[in-house]
Amino acid sequence: MKFTVLTLFPELVDPFFGHGIIARAVEKKAIAGRSVNIRDFSCDRHNTVDDRPYGGGCGMVMKPEPLSAAIRAAKAEAPGSRVVHMSPQGRPFDQKLALELAEEGNGLIFICGRYEGIDERICHSLVDDEISIGDYVMTGGELAAMVIIDAVTRLLPGVLGGETSAEIDSFQNDRLEYAHYTRPPEFETMAVPDVLLSGDHQKIERWRQASSLKRTFLKRPDLFKQRSLDPEERKLLKTWCQELETLINE
Ligand SMILES: C[S@@+](CC[C@H](N)C(=O)[O-])C[C@H]1O[C@@H](n2cnc3c(N)ncnc32)[C@H](O)[C@@H]1O
Repeated sequence: MKFTVLTLFPELVDPFFGHGIIARAVEKKAIAGRSVNIRDFSCDRHNTVDDRPYGGGCGMVMKPEPLSAAIRAAKAEAPGSRVVHMSPQGRPFDQKLALELAEEGNGLIFICGRYEGIDERICHSLVDDEISIGDYVMTGGELAAMVIIDAVTRLLPGVLGGETSAEIDSFQNDRLEYAHYTRPPEFETMAVPDVLLSGDHQKIERWRQASSLKRTFLKRPDLFKQRSLDPEERKLLKTWCQELETLINE
């Protein structure tokens, strides 16, 4: 997967490809990432990339000419890539969209806006998709692009290897992931649940399923609307309800 980030601040984006799992994905050639400085495509000797908005008002708008030249150059380097405009007005980014983007065979080109955003005509002519990472406004699209690259990369084949699996992650199955513990077995009087030390893999699996369900129920009950309970989940939740009832009546 080829990621190209069109930005006025490449120095913000470039180090991102040099750390942790993302750096390992680059080494394994599962991804290639680069930034393109939109300013390199400006058309005047002052390297102007923004201008005042037509109709007046505050702030500046990113000019269309440098942007269109940068997008076309990026597309020539990575033909067939999907051009994504980072925008608070775009469709909300979530795990489902991450999975969709991970299927994008050719690559992704991200346009990172600054100031009041980009000239609307770019959106009409050169953008395939508009994505938001949440209902808040940031100063630029770089962090948003990095959020997406990060979430998409860990879904690509071979990136996580054996040590972690994206399949059991939160949201993957419309549920939150179960609780995790590591050594020591007791920390500040809090003990690891006995079952996790038992070595009984069937029991551990059941405990994890129940943990995942409880956490979803307590933290994100809205996820149950995305996928209704299957019979096994129904059974586990009923057992939990019975345990709660016993506790209340004690
Ligand atoms: C200050 S914002 C512009 C916001 C714009 N005036 C509006 O109200 O819709 C500058 C740039 O940051 C990026 N940005 C800000 N918030 C974002 C979000 N929630 N998701 C994705 N990109 C965002 C976009 O690229 C945007 O062009």
